[in-house]
Amino acid sequence: MNKEMLEYALDHLPIPSFRFFEETDSTNTQALNWVSQGAPEYSLVIAEKQTAGRGRSGRSWVTTPRSSLAVSIILHPTKFEIGKLGLFSLLGGFSVLKMIEDSYQVNAQVKWPNDVLIENKKTAGILSEALWQGETLQGIVLGIGINLLTPSVPPPDGLLFPATCIQAHCDREIDQIETLACLLETIIKLRESMLLPTFINHYEEKLAYMDQIISLDTGEANIISGHLVGVDEYGNVRIRFADGNEKIFPIGDIKLRPL
Ligand code: BTN
Repeated sequence: MNKEMLEYALDHLPIPSFRFFEETDSTNTQALNWVSQGAPEYSLVIAEKQTAGRGRSGRSWVTTPRSSLAVSIILHPTKFEIGKLGLFSLLGGFSVLKMIEDSYQVNAQVKWPNDVLIENKKTAGILSEALWQGETLQGIVLGIGINLLTPSVPPPDGLLFPATCIQAHCDREIDQIETLACLLETIIKLRESMLLPTFINHYEEKLAYMDQIISLDTGEANIISGHLVGVDEYGNVRIRFADGNEKIFPIGDIKLRPL
């Protein structure tokens, strides 16, 4: 991947500008800086390699050159979207899933809120970060990391969840730039319906562990357990407890509860 190839492949898309790095700390860090300098909607930061790639909950994310995709997309939510910012991370995960299914004919699932799984192994992760100045939202950065080819799959030791890559499930040749262009097209298209009930319905059809008993680590040394019953209109996960009561949670890590 290089700047000229990206310029050519992204030409038909409403991308005002992009920054490409052979190596950078984190595309999200670069994109957040760019937001603070006034980057317009759909500006992109793309890197072959990240030296300080970030994941959710303070975890790190490794990006292997020429076998993964690391991109951060700058968004300026509308006044309607601002009330439902949690949906952007679902939009990222669901768009990666659709891109994988449509471009590579590989079945995928989304593990709430936004991990993308193929055959129960993680192939992509999303880190959505917002930049605020006081009460004013400066912009959102939707950071997406996808394992495309075998070298991108991290070694199993130390992983919280098993990992895979698209290539392990598909005979087609996988091209970084073509994948990026399809992903961007999908995000732009799905965003049009993000605030409609159909978006949540379609997301739920692809939700891993739906109707199963899961445990949810809400982060504050608090792990709860119950039936995963879906997602609400804000993107919160809905859990039903043994006593029949239902509660929503805005953040957390889901695991299938061992029987
Ligand atoms: C996760 O699964 O915890 C989220 C991983 C997000 C990784 C992507 S790679 C592009 C962008 N830049 C980062 O530093 N992180 C995100």
